[in-house]
Amino acid sequence: MKRTFGLLVIVAAAFVVPSAASAQNTYVGVKACTMCHKSEKQGMQLAIWEKSKHAGAYNTLTTPKAAEIAKAKGIANAAEAKECLECHTIKGGPDAADIKQGVQCENCHGAGSGYKAMATMKSKDLAVKGGLVAFADQAAVEAMCKTCHNEKSPTNKPFNFEERWKEIAHKKPAA
Ligand code: HEC
Ligand code: HEC
Ligand code: HEC
Ligand code: HEC
Repeated sequence: MKRTFGLLVIVAAAFVVPSAASAQNTYVGVKACTMCHKSEKQGMQLAIWEKSKHAGAYNTLTTPKAAEIAKAKGIANAAEAKECLECHTIKGGPDAADIKQGVQCENCHGAGSGYKAMATMKSKDLAVKGGLVAFADQAAVEAMCKTCHNEKSPTNKPFNFEERWKEIAHKKPAA
């Protein structure tokens, strides 16, 4: 009983608190991931992401609609404001990597420098030790989505996880 409880605490902590490795990791950008994650056999993660609105999330901040929202909030330039960039680009903001890639692989999977090597990626254990975010279950995935899909978004729409996930699902096909 005691042991199970201890394990649960560790799992919960692993989701909220970045591991020491992920805290030191740097963003490597989409190309560094998709060199291995674009083939049909791997599940075409590149093409699926490119088609998703996540890929255009930074560009959205340069549109007239964004300018209007920003103006109402007294923000001079949405594409340079932390208050907008925090959900429309990689976490860490302007100086972390190429923010023009919008919401990319590493927003959800964690900064990749510590897990992107082939030898690390091939073992889920090693990848997670290297900073790949591990999701305990579907609820944990939904909670991650809602760090951006929430009422702090000026254009917030109700977020139905099951429907929204289908739009961006990028699973590797069964062999
Ligand atoms: C050198 C090639 C390579 C690179 C670069 C790479 N990956 Fe991987 N990745 C793999 C391989 C191989 C697997 C194992 C999946 C399989 O084929 O079964 C994997 C697995 C994964 C998984 C699934 C882990 C699991 O088991 O649940 C995720 C998520 C992932 N990669 C994300 C990324 C992200 C994000 C990046 C960029 C930061 C990246 N990968 C870069 C080769 C790579
Ligand atoms: C880092 C912040 C962030 C995270 C995390 C995030 N999203 Fe998003 N998502 C956005 C932004 C910003 C947009 C709007 C992009 C645009 O229109 O330019 C968006 C748009 C979308 C859209 C298109 C919505 C529409 O109205 O057309 C879907 C679907 C979506 N996200 C699903 C998800 C799912 C599912 C997850 C979790 C697995 C997730 N998102 C995680 C920021 C995020
Ligand atoms: C808490 C996260 C978050 C913040 C902060 C945020 N956004 Fe967004 N934004 C989103 C998400 C998620 C979407 C897509 C889903 C939606 O509209 O509900 C989105 C969509 C948009 C859209 C497209 C809406 C449409 O219907 O076409 C615009 C424009 C936009 N945001 C501008 C801004 C501006 C400007 C700021 C800063 C003042 C900002 N956002 C701050 C998360 C955020
Ligand atoms: C909006 C968040 C989000 C973005 C953006 C995103 N992913 Fe994922 N990805 C997920 C989630 C959630 C899962 C499922 C994880 C789980 O069930 O443990 C996943 C699963 C995967 C898997 C494992 C597939 C399988 O069948 O096991 C790979 C590989 C992967 N993603 C690579 C990528 C790459 C490469 C990119 C960028 C081109 C990317 N992802 C962008 C959230 C995202």
